Amino acid sequence: MEYRVKSGHPLKQRSGSMVIGVYESLKLGQAAKLVDQATDGQITSLLKNGDIEGKPGQTIMLYNLPGVACDRVLLVGCGKEKKLDAAGFSKVFSGAIKTLEEGGTTNAILYLSDLTVKGWNARQKTSQAVAACESACYRFDQLKSGVTGPRRPIKRITLNVDNASLAAAETGMLQGQAIANGMSMTRDLANLPGNICTPGYLARQARTLGRKHASLSVKILEESDMKKLGMGALLSVSRGSRQPAKLITMEYRGTKKSVQPVVLVGKGLTFDAGGISLKPAEAMDEMKYDMCGGATVIGVMRAVAEIGLPINVVGVVPSSENLPDGDANKPGDIVTSMSGQTIEVLNTDAEGRLILCDALTYVERYKPDVVIDLATLTGACIVALGHQTQAVLGNHDPLIHNLIKAGEQTGDRAWQLPLWEEYQQQLDSNFADMANIGGRTAGTITAACFLARYTEDYKWAHMDIAGTAWVSGKQKGATGRPVPLLMQYLINRASK
Ligand code: BES
Ligand code: MN
Ligand code: ZN
Repeated sequence: MEYRVKSGHPLKQRSGSMVIGVYESLKLGQAAKLVDQATDGQITSLLKNGDIEGKPGQTIMLYNLPGVACDRVLLVGCGKEKKLDAAGFSKVFSGAIKTLEEGGTTNAILYLSDLTVKGWNARQKTSQAVAACESACYRFDQLKSGVTGPRRPIKRITLNVDNASLAAAETGMLQGQAIANGMSMTRDLANLPGNICTPGYLARQARTLGRKHASLSVKILEESDMKKLGMGALLSVSRGSRQPAKLITMEYRGTKKSVQPVVLVGKGLTFDAGGISLKPAEAMDEMKYDMCGGATVIGVMRAVAEIGLPINVVGVVPSSENLPDGDANKPGDIVTSMSGQTIEVLNTDAEGRLILCDALTYVERYKPDVVIDLATLTGACIVALGHQTQAVLGNHDPLIHNLIKAGEQTGDRAWQLPLWEEYQQQLDSNFADMANIGGRTAGTITAACFLARYTEDYKWAHMDIAGTAWVSGKQKGATGRPVPLLMQYLINRASK
C-alpha cells in the first residue's frame, strides 16, 4: 500500500472514500463536524438514532451526502475522546481499513489527525496509524493455493494532517512504513512452518536483507566455526537435528564506528519438539513459533536499515532445531558453554537458554552499550502475564525502564519481573556449575537467572515473549511483537 500525507479541506476532497471520526457520547471529530454542518445534521442524527455508538473501530459507510464532494464517507468510531489509548487508536484504523477493503475502495483519505493519545506527537500518531493500517491488511496465504486476496485491494491511503504538522507527519509516515515492513517480515518468518523455515532458511533471509542495504553486513557462523569458539551449549541442542545450526550476525552501521552498539539477540529455535524430554502432542505445531525472538531481531534490523537510524545496532540470532534423536542431548548430560561454565541438562526442553547463553557470550566482542535478548523462553511467562504483556528482566534498571516506557508509548507493553539473587539457588546442580532448569516455581525468573550468569560484563535486559509473539486458536498467527516496542526504544535513543 502507498501512503501520503497532505493538508486539505474535507468537503473539497473528491476521489475515493473519505474517513471521518465520531466519538462516543455523541461527539464529532473535526471533519465530522464540517460534514454534519454541510448535511444539515445527518451525522448527528445517525448518532442520536444509535446507528453508530462510536466504539473504537465501529464503522458505517454513507453514500452521496449532499454538499460533500466525495461519493463515499466512512464514519468510524473513535471511542471516548479523552481516553483513547494505543490499542484503541489501532482499532480505529484497522476498523476503517477492513471496511474500506470490503467495500472495494482502492484509495481513501483519512481525516483522523485530531485523535489524541497521551504523549503522542504528530510524528508518532502518523507512524502508529500507518503501522495499524498495514497490520490490518496483513495476510499469510503464500502456502494456500488459489487464494486471491481482497476483491479490490486498497492502493493508496492519504492521511490528512494540519499544515503545521506536515513535516513531522511525513517523518512518521516513513517510520511507520518501515516498522510495518519489519513487522510483516517478522510475522512471515514466524508463520512459515518448520520444514520451510529452518536455521539455513533464516540465515538466507538475513543474507538477502544484507544485500539490500549497504549499511547492513551479515555474517553467518557455521557449526564448525561455533565448535572452534567452544559453543558447547548451543551445539548440544543442534546435535539432535539434521538441520545444521547457524549463528546469524547482522551489523548495522548508522553512525561513527566508535559509538557502542545496541546488541539484540533473538532465540531462533525453528522447531522445538522438546528433544528427548519430548513435549505432549497437543498444539506442538505452535513450536514452529519458537524462533519469534530471532524473527523479531531480523524484522527490527530491516526497519532500522530502512529508516537509516543514526545509531549502531547488531542483531544476533542463534538458530537450531530441538528434536529427539539418537545423538540428542539426554537428561543428565553435562555440556560446557563458551564461557567455560558447565551445565547439567536436566530437561532437554529447556533448550532456549542453552543456545542463548553461548550467543550472549559471543556478543561481548561487539563491546555493546546494552544487550537485549528476546525469546519465547518459558510457558511460565504465559501463566504469569498472559498474552497481553511480555516479561522484562535484567541487570540494569535504567535499560529496563526505557524498554517499559517504549512499550507504553506503542501499546506493545512489557512488565518487569524480579531477578533477585535469592532465586539463583534454584539452579544448583550436584554435578555441574548449574542446572538448566530451576524447578516448578518462578519459571520465567529462573530462566532469566540462568542467562544472567552469562551477561555480567554488560548492561543487559531479557524479554520473554512466549505469550505475546503469537496468538493461538482460530486466528492463529504471529503478531510481530515486540518489533514496535524495540523500534520505539531505538528511535528514542536515536533522538537523544
Ligand atoms: N519454547 C519453550 C517455551 C514455550 C512453551 C513457549 C509454550 C511458548 C509456549 C521452551 O523451550 C520450553 O520448552 N520451556 C520449558 C522450560 C521448562 C522445561 C523448564 C517450559 O516452559 O515448559
Ligand atoms: Mn523447549
Ligand atoms: Zn523452546
